[in-house]
Parts: sequence; structure tokens; C-alpha cells
Amino acid sequence: MRILSGIQPSGVMHVGNYLGAVKQWVTHQSADSLYCIVDLHALTLELDPSVLREQTIDTLATLVAAGLDPDVCTLFLQSRIAFHAQLNWLLECVATFGELSRMTQFKEKAERKGGYRVGLFTYPVLMAADILLYDTERVPVGDDQLQHLELTREIAERFNNRYGDTFTLPEGMLPPSGARVMDLQEPTHKMSKSVASPLGQITLLDDPRDIERKISRAVTDTDGEVRVDWENKPGVSNLLEIYAGFSDESPHDVARRYERYGELKHDLAELVISSLSPIAQRYRELRADPGALQSVLDAGSLKATHVAATTYQRAARAMGLYAPGA
Ligand code: AMP
Ligand code: TRP
Repeated sequence: MRILSGIQPSGVMHVGNYLGAVKQWVTHQSADSLYCIVDLHALTLELDPSVLREQTIDTLATLVAAGLDPDVCTLFLQSRIAFHAQLNWLLECVATFGELSRMTQFKEKAERKGGYRVGLFTYPVLMAADILLYDTERVPVGDDQLQHLELTREIAERFNNRYGDTFTLPEGMLPPSGARVMDLQEPTHKMSKSVASPLGQITLLDDPRDIERKISRAVTDTDGEVRVDWENKPGVSNLLEIYAGFSDESPHDVARRYERYGELKHDLAELVISSLSPIAQRYRELRADPGALQSVLDAGSLKATHVAATTYQRAARAMGLYAPGA
């Protein structure tokens, strides 16, 4: 089963990224899975170039520390493979302005910022190119990416109908728990790298004391009963969801074991610390050898290029371009 997913090198990974995406990547890694650091997507964020370079290597080190094995799966950097940008253009000539205008993530980001870059608008087309280039069947992501995936399928179907059968139609893959982790301070908002609330997000590199402090201060409610109820008790429901994501249970089963918020928070902190400490430790070891990390990217890009070239050329020929090949 061909699996592909991507993550932006846009800052330190948090438990939302981990439970929504990366933990699934690790579980499902095989010779047929590809994981991509989408540095071209991160250019929509207006990062300082030196920051982007640092964060790219940090992201790679974190992914390997979290359990992705470059000898098993393919770990690569999007910008190293020019076919992503090339297929992006072909797909921009298939996607419509109207459908891109309907993307919630774009609407939210554009609202926050006047004078946004065109790349922010066309971002989902590049994501479609990432996915379709590799004949992807499953895309493990958090729930915020489902709309982009639906668009990818629509673009692929339209292409296939117009130009002949070219692309595989991909399907999303959500984790049973943790597909949408909320901010600990504002549990009606998604936990996000871009939101400046350090108490609201737990990163994979936080030290144990910070994790404990953030969980003990997480917003709950005054009702006092431990149960899943997203509408009336988003804070407690989120803690249960995070617990379930780490322990591979259902949030309801976790809730049944607890009477008081204090106990739940105490055990959750222990669980998160014991799950994340080895990742932070391994990250520090890996980060000390940037040369080895660069080689991972070189090897990964080499592995990914072959599939990407074949699919790109198939698509280009289908549209009437003189691409090499049959
Ligand atoms: P990004 O950091 O936007 O590149 O996201 C990388 C992956 O993490 C994507 O699959 C997202 O869907 C997932 N993700 C991001 N934030 C969350 C969250 N708060 N809860 C669950 N998954 C998330
Ligand atoms: N848009 C995704 C996000 O912000 C990142 C991404 C880019 C991606 N290309 C992808 C995810 C391809 C899955 C597959 O989270």
C-alpha cells in the first residue's frame, strides 16, 4: 500500500502533529511509504531564510527521533525534487479559482493577513502534486487536512476524465484518537505551531517539568465530572483525547477510570512524559551530527526521484507536452 504524507518545517512539532500525523507514519512505515518535509509549502509563511534552514534540519531530526527509520521508509525534502513544482503547474491548469477560494484554511489565513502571497492561495494544488506524483493510496494526516485531500481527489478525477487515466485516487487516513488535538488553554481552537500560546501547546522537545506544568494548568471546567463531552467540556474532552492518542485506547474508556480532574492530569502528564522523553533524548543525539542528517536527505531524494519522474512524465504527455518516454 503506497503511503505518503508531509509536514511543514514551520517550527517545533507539537503533540497535535505527533498524534494526528507522525505517530501513524511510524506505525505504518514500510518500503512503500514516503514522508516529505514540505519546505516549499513553508515559503508561504515568510520565514527568515536562516530560520527555514534550521527548522528543516530540526524537523528531520525530530521525525527520525520519533521513530521514522530512513532505512525502512523514504524520508525526503520536497524542494529537492523539481517534479513537485512542475506537476504543480500542470495541476494549476486543472484546478479552478472557485474551488481554491472555498478552502477553509486559506480563508482563515487570508483573513488574518491582508496582502497574502499567491502561494498561500495555490498551496493545496502543490499538496495535490506531492500526493499524486507518487501514486499514493493512503495519506495519514490530521483532520484539518481532509478538505485539501478531497480537493486532491477532485483534481485527480478531473484530470483522469479529461486526459485519460493517469493518477491514483488517494484516501485520507485519520488516527482513531488525536486527529484533532486542541490548544490546552483555548480548547475550542486547534493546537497550532503558529499560535503564540506557549502554555497551550506541548512540543515533542519540552522538558518534563514544562509538560507537567502545561497539563496541570490546562483549562477544564467547574462541573467536576470526567467524561467526553466536546460541546460542554472541551478542555476535559481534549485531555481524554490526548491520553487516548498516546495509550491507544478510546477516550471513553479512559474517562471511565477517573473520578477527578487532578488524577487524570497527573496520569496524563506521566504518560506524555514517558512517551516523549526518549524522543527528545534521541533528537539531541541526532541533532549533534548534521552531516548524517544531510545524508538521510540525499538518500531519500534519490529514492523518491524515480517514481516522481515517471508519474510527472506520464501526466505531461497526457496533457500534450513533449515529455520523454513512451
Ligand atoms: P503542519 O504542521 O501544518 O505541516 O501539519 C502536519 C500534520 O500534523 C498534518 O497532517 C496535520 O493535519 C497534523 N496536525 C496539525 N495540527 C494538528 C492538531 N492540532 N491535531 C491533530 N493533527 C494536527
Ligand atoms: N498541507 C499539509 C499541512 O499543512 C502539509 C502537506 C503538504 C501534506 N503536502 C502534503 C500532507 C502531502 C500530506 C500529503 O499539514
